[in-house]
Amino acid sequence: MKFRIRRTKAPDARRVRAFVREHWGDETIVAHGVVFQPEKLKGFVAEIGRAEWIGLATYHIRDLSCELVSLNSIHEGEGVGTALVRAVAEEGFNAGCSRLRCVTTNDNFPALIFYQKRGFRIIAVHPGAVERARILKPSIPLWGIESIPIRDEIELELRPDENHN
Ligand SMILES: CC(C)(COP(=O)(O)OP(=O)(O)OC[C@H]1O[C@@H](n2cnc3c(N)ncnc32)[C@H](O)[C@@H]1OP(=O)(O)O)[C@@H](O)C(=O)NCCC(=O)NCCS
Repeated sequence: MKFRIRRTKAPDARRVRAFVREHWGDETIVAHGVVFQPEKLKGFVAEIGRAEWIGLATYHIRDLSCELVSLNSIHEGEGVGTALVRAVAEEGFNAGCSRLRCVTTNDNFPALIFYQKRGFRIIAVHPGAVERARILKPSIPLWGIESIPIRDEIELELRPDENHN
């Protein structure tokens, strides 16, 4: 499947908000106790045809660390997620960041496989972090993939020299 990757622009903000709401339950993402509003972040979108969105990544650069805040692919297994991670990684590393960081949840084994196949390493497990995040974002589901209780955050990072993208 042919798709294009482009940066999100200011006029995309409403669409980013709607996309995040559709895929993450509401308009915010909570990671390590921080509430992010992806519509206010930089990002890349994967498009097909007449600007149909099939994937979105948003990120945030601070203190020479680039954080992948959200990543979604609607057409799984076709390279969309990889292309979006590659775009964010290039952006971060070109900006001088020493790492690309992201957080996923304990149930999300497809994401753990995906990230590790792309060179990310697990650098920390934060027990109970999602239980605390629910105070900030009550819409986070209690059960995730395979009905596993969603409780913990798993933190991963990609270093420039381990980039398999
Ligand atoms: C994780 C995600 C972004 C991957 O996007 P994608 O477009 O399918 O990614 P790609 O097609 O580039 O790569 C797919 C890779 O993921 C791996 N993968 C994905 N789901 C898998 C599963 N259920 N079991 C095994 N491997 C899986 C495959 O091994 C594949 O690697 P390969 O190409 O080397 O075989 C997508 O599944 C998604 O949007 N998930 C829901 C949201 C999410 O979990 N976001 C990230 C964590 S916060």
